[in-house]
Amino acid sequence: SAAEKGGHEYFMLKEIEEQPEALANTLRGHFESGRIILDEQRISDQDLRDVDKVFVVACGSAYHSGLVAKYAIEHWTRLPVEVELASEFRYRDPVLDRDTLVVAVSQSGETADTLEAVRHAREQKARVLAVCNTNGAQIPRESDAVLYTHAGPEIGVASTKAFLAQIAANYLVGLALAQARGTKYPDEVAREFAELEAMPAAVQKVLSTVDQVRDLGRRIADSKAVLFLGRHVGFPVALEGALKLKELAYMHAEGFAAGELKHGPIALIEDGLPVVVVMPSPKGRAVLHSKLVSNISEIQARGARTIVIAEEGDETVRPFADELIEVPAVPTLLQPLVSTVPLQVLAAEIARTRGYDVDKPRNLAKSVTVE
Ligand code: G6P
Repeated sequence: SAAEKGGHEYFMLKEIEEQPEALANTLRGHFESGRIILDEQRISDQDLRDVDKVFVVACGSAYHSGLVAKYAIEHWTRLPVEVELASEFRYRDPVLDRDTLVVAVSQSGETADTLEAVRHAREQKARVLAVCNTNGAQIPRESDAVLYTHAGPEIGVASTKAFLAQIAANYLVGLALAQARGTKYPDEVAREFAELEAMPAAVQKVLSTVDQVRDLGRRIADSKAVLFLGRHVGFPVALEGALKLKELAYMHAEGFAAGELKHGPIALIEDGLPVVVVMPSPKGRAVLHSKLVSNISEIQARGARTIVIAEEGDETVRPFADELIEVPAVPTLLQPLVSTVPLQVLAAEIARTRGYDVDKPRNLAKSVTVE
């Protein structure tokens, strides 16, 4: 009913609006007496300290949350982090031992490939930490440690609030490891946590641009394809934006690392093709920012319709942006939490305009419990 959907036409739109709350609830209680704490920990602090390699395994949007987290976890812990699709990981022969931490990220906690990846890891004595949105699901039950996301039930098949909560939870895992290893001083961990705690308000601010994005969605709804470009943490955001559009609008969409533009994707640019560009901060990542500005000018010169997600007040992109969507300035590693939101809204609105059921896209299931 409309009431269940909080007055929205679709659960997904309600869930997009619940993202500030999902983030706040996921962070709550995880920093106490100056320490990051997990929900369940069946391994010793020493075991955490001894971790010398991290794998993140997941499927779908959860996999993209892992790709985002890699930047933060490597930066904070100086541990090598590999992010892998669970369906690939479980059939490879990954190099694991008791000092490997496998982080299994799953909203449902029941995804067949992720569960089998967990079993595969444990057979080889790796430690497994689950990031999960469902209390007592199979994946957390079979893991050595658990951090629950508290996004609340997600009804829309395409993940939104669970995805943002996964990013936050993965970051807490990174901070817990940094704390255990001493690669960050306690006051630095406290500062990172405080920055995370400021994100619900930043996401709330992005939600005020929803009408502008919906209007844009209606105007580009009959496009044949949409490309997404990003760099650094903006690259997985581009992948997630493209996935949302495929899932919901059945439109051809691809996310690319902007640095690869000249190695292929630029050949796809033709007159009127919408290209969404996720900009880094002009202050936080000045070098990457200027490279992306030249990418946008190149694709615009070749006829692309540029849709630019940029930090508020970023004047340098304005001349190259056919459409400009502004997001608040936040620390670089946290940017995916704000820049993903307009892409969710865009995909939902394009799907709606094309007459599709945003909550129940064809051929897809909320939880893939068979291979
Ligand atoms: C399905 C859903 C996606 C989700 C993926 C992984 O494909 O449609 O939204 O990201 O499964 O699900 P999980 O429950 O493991 O996070």
